[in-house]
Amino acid sequence: MNPIQLFDSASSTFTYVLFDESSTESPRPAIIIDPVDDQLERDLEVLRHNNLKLVWALETHAHADHITSAGRLAEHAGAQTAAPDACGITTASKLLVDGDMLHFGSQHITALHTPGHTAGSMSFVWEHGSDSTAQTHAFTGDTLLIGGCGRSDFQSGSATALYNSITKVLFSMPGSTTVWPGHDYKGQTQSTIGAEKVGNARVTGRSLEEFVALMGALDLPKPKRLEEAVPANQRSGLAQTVRHDAGDANTPLSIGKAKLADAVQPADGYAGNVSPQLAFDWWQSGDAVLVDIRTDAERAWVGFIPGAVDLAWKQWPGMVMNPAYDDGIVAAIPKGKKAVFLCRSGLRSVPAAKRAAELGIEAYNILEGFEGDPNTSAHRNQVAGWRYRGLPWRQN
Ligand SMILES: [Fe+2]
Repeated sequence: MNPIQLFDSASSTFTYVLFDESSTESPRPAIIIDPVDDQLERDLEVLRHNNLKLVWALETHAHADHITSAGRLAEHAGAQTAAPDACGITTASKLLVDGDMLHFGSQHITALHTPGHTAGSMSFVWEHGSDSTAQTHAFTGDTLLIGGCGRSDFQSGSATALYNSITKVLFSMPGSTTVWPGHDYKGQTQSTIGAEKVGNARVTGRSLEEFVALMGALDLPKPKRLEEAVPANQRSGLAQTVRHDAGDANTPLSIGKAKLADAVQPADGYAGNVSPQLAFDWWQSGDAVLVDIRTDAERAWVGFIPGAVDLAWKQWPGMVMNPAYDDGIVAAIPKGKKAVFLCRSGLRSVPAAKRAAELGIEAYNILEGFEGDPNTSAHRNQVAGWRYRGLPWRQN
């Protein structure tokens, strides 16, 4: 079977969802490759629609032209993130080296180090089916595109490395291997290794020296989102600083406890976003009910807030929707009271607040959540969140 191929037209980026349609598991384990931040809702809907449980959110490299949703997908869907070791993506749950395998149910993909577009760039190989149905898929990121290849003139790129990755690593795969590129700008969707060997406009018929000369003469404009996208992608797309009000989004992490404005910030579909402190003040004064929508597992292992209403939006394992949420929230919030919603980092609580608003509740999302986003060492509780800001909680 083929992967589900999705397209972001703003950045011409392909995102791929892989799963085994013959899996008897329910939901079926899946992985996603190169998800795009603006397409988060679409991708969650694809997972829901196909009865999939996301196991891994993967990057082929640290992109310069769009921001990944991998970190947010992990939060929403309960997946882990994986990225090439040499891309500086410090927040990834797993840093991949050449030959690493990632499993999803009975399936697995293998990571191939294919440097050149960036020093860390990887391709992923999925061998699916057996005997007459056997099919090999290569997800080539920006290393090999249909009839072309990614650029190599910035972000630790190297035309020599790119030539070797394409001609020695990727072209050593069987000619029937399906090539699924990271981008296409001409409406093409897939190719094969065999077709690229004979018809790739950049590589076919060129020596290494000719290829390097060609790549050096391309003179391409800088990607529009380079400065913004690369640092964001090196944190799996999780924005640590933008919710602080002590300056701008470039506030260094070392600034310490940047204070969030104690005012309601506008929101779409619910009453607004509030800082942990303001939520705590409302709760203490009796104006609001504090609802902790994290999973039971998170509260048990990470810590809980005595006196909060514990009502999971999704439950571990699998991050499946809690069917008792609607009834639970209606019963928990007395008429005339606000409800403030807390999750791990302030993302999952958004749909929980929206749903409560649909049920007639004055619902607010608590920014930063219980633990905040990860810092550059992938550790939570270091830059933001209920705990970090010194609000009450207990371990047991
Ligand atoms: Fe790229």
